[in-house]
Amino acid sequence: MAYERLHVETSEAIATVTVNRPDKLNALDRATVREIGQVAEALANDRSIRAVVVTGAGEKAFVAGADIAEMASLDASGARDFARSGQQAFERLESLPMPVLAAVNGFALGGGCELAIACDLVYASDRAKFGQPEVSLGVIPGFGGTQRLARRVGVGKAREMIFTGAPIDAAEALRIGLCDGVFGAAELAARVRDIARTIATKGPLAVSAAKRAIGRGFDAEAVAFGDLFDTADQKEGMRAFLEKRKADFKGM
Ligand code: COA
Repeated sequence: MAYERLHVETSEAIATVTVNRPDKLNALDRATVREIGQVAEALANDRSIRAVVVTGAGEKAFVAGADIAEMASLDASGARDFARSGQQAFERLESLPMPVLAAVNGFALGGGCELAIACDLVYASDRAKFGQPEVSLGVIPGFGGTQRLARRVGVGKAREMIFTGAPIDAAEALRIGLCDGVFGAAELAARVRDIARTIATKGPLAVSAAKRAIGRGFDAEAVAFGDLFDTADQKEGMRAFLEKRKADFKGM
């Protein structure tokens, strides 16, 4: 599928989705939000993909928020629809069966911060800045941020970021658990790819079951653990260990 606002590239079982509006710091207009939902839907059905990396085009921004120029003239009903479409697109991304890694290469503000935390893992360049500045514009996060930020960093830090609108740097984001690793700007893409590549060598059914279990709790963990013993990958993984060789996972 051809995208107008995204660049999507696949190699080594890893799909890289780049939000590609660098002249607007990759701000999320309706078209971009729609395409994020579409790419997530396409990836959900692609069994050849074992990990997804989400990043932003250019040197400056991951995503500098929802498109303020487009939002400025929305009425309440239009704004509600815009928030719902963003929530739905990010929910699709979050629910992908394979892990999704954000490579935050610059500003991740507003909808950009919400996009990053809809990903399973968040890695940042040392130049990245995270923030939920919506209150400075007289609004609030609308793409899931009030829920996901609290889950990721705890309700106190989420309140602080959302009530003050103040951005934080990558070191602070790492300290509070908003991101999971910080790398030099020049090496971010390669380091995130290394992590994605490691994930892609593991049993895909197991990684996917782990993702579901982490999202859902103890009961899901026990069920998923048991279900995996019905798969060829479990037998291969354990046999390979005992035979002191590398496992050859087939995803079945
Ligand atoms: N929506 C629409 N356009 C945006 C945007 C957004 N969220 N963020 C940046 N842009 C546009 C700017 O309007 C500018 O466009 P122009 O060249 O046509 O004037 C271009 O991207 C470059 O941004 P600029 O502000 O000139 O870059 P900067 O380096 O001076 O500042 C930021 C960078 C991120 C600090 C600043 O762009 C900013 O504060 N953006 C808004 C962040 C925000 O409030 N996001 C939450 C939205 S809910």
